Amino acid sequence: MPFDITRTRAAYPALTEGFVHFDGAGGTQTAQPVIDAVAAAMGAAIGNRSTAFAPGRRSLDIVEAARSAVADLLGARPEGVVLGPSATALTYTLARTLGAAWRPGDEVVVSRLDHDANVRPWVQAAEAAGATVRWAEFDPATGELPAGQYADLVGERTRLVAVTAGSNAIGTAPDVAAIAKTAQAAGALVCVDGVHSVPHGPTDLASLGADFLITSAYKWSGPHLAAMVADPDRWEQLRPAKLLPSSDAVPDRFEYGTPSFPLLAGVTAAVDHLATLDPEATGSRRERVRAGLAAAQAHEEAVFDRLLAGLAARPAVTVYGSPARRCPTVSFRVAGLTPADTAAALGAAGCCLSSGDYYAYEYFRTMGLRDSGGAVRASVYHYNTVDEVDRLLAELDRIATGGERMAR
Ligand SMILES: Cc1ncc(COP(=O)(O)O)c(C=O)c1O
Repeated sequence: MPFDITRTRAAYPALTEGFVHFDGAGGTQTAQPVIDAVAAAMGAAIGNRSTAFAPGRRSLDIVEAARSAVADLLGARPEGVVLGPSATALTYTLARTLGAAWRPGDEVVVSRLDHDANVRPWVQAAEAAGATVRWAEFDPATGELPAGQYADLVGERTRLVAVTAGSNAIGTAPDVAAIAKTAQAAGALVCVDGVHSVPHGPTDLASLGADFLITSAYKWSGPHLAAMVADPDRWEQLRPAKLLPSSDAVPDRFEYGTPSFPLLAGVTAAVDHLATLDPEATGSRRERVRAGLAAAQAHEEAVFDRLLAGLAARPAVTVYGSPARRCPTVSFRVAGLTPADTAAALGAAGCCLSSGDYYAYEYFRTMGLRDSGGAVRASVYHYNTVDEVDRLLAELDRIATGGERMAR
């Protein structure tokens, strides 16, 4: 059955405002069931977690439900789901925890394709331990991250390999499974940044080969919260810095302070919503989420193909990278205009696109584009349409003509 875009769009009340959102990589619009769940939890009697009274038990249930939902989204076990405020905060927690055991001479491998959230926490933890940082390089022409280089980068002193499953700048989806295999054969742990990839297709912790996988719910129709998953046995081996009276259990001991219970209710609702994207799907929530995201992926790819073809056909537009396996995200520049000016001109016309480096710091620095403003990013989410692509391309034509005038 073709993807029902009308039904899908109806689930996002913000779309009625009329903006064209090609900024899903920076955060998607929120689905109505998520808004309802957050509001219901906000309005309900809620106490801090306690088994003594019903509102306290409600909070416990909300946390448990969120763990179970994220586990279904990623193919993980609920007891292995650590919840937190953002992917950045969770990665810092993990880096500090693992880094405490590193010694001078140990090595950490990061990539220049990654968002800085999966780079800097590792670099800083390595510096604190006197460990050495090694860099995986992308191909500047294609934007691919060759998996073969990891055979040279990883050795017996490698403690950790951090790599993205999807570049938030140019969409590249590296062969994480191959990279993980190389890393784990040398005894290294693998932390995969799934923030950009998870919204765009079914994800499976085991097939990725990741020891740790991180995702942010606000990239998949949910609230501004994140999760980091691993096998519970792995968490059992790790001791984060923590308050003395806080729970020492797994996964709770990796979570700091009192969480936002209403937003956690929204995380569960977001996963439930993704499970409805293919209305014909049946089975467990995990099966329905996978089917829903597979249906969304096919739709996104069709919309994205039209966008890529449209950008390629415009001589005034320079597109960066052409990775074979990718998420539906692309960075480009328009001749004669800075990326910020392009984004502002598009924004004035109601088209929402980010500009700059979007924290893909090493990518833009390596490309020599960072100091001159980075690029403009268009990322497709499942509520986007080919009509929106055509509207964006028409706006680009209008702007490019003006831009060339400005450059003369
Ligand atoms: C690929 C990627 N990783 C990590 C992050 C950081 O996520 P958070 O805002 O949850 O810290 C982002 C945010 O845009 C991202 O795109």
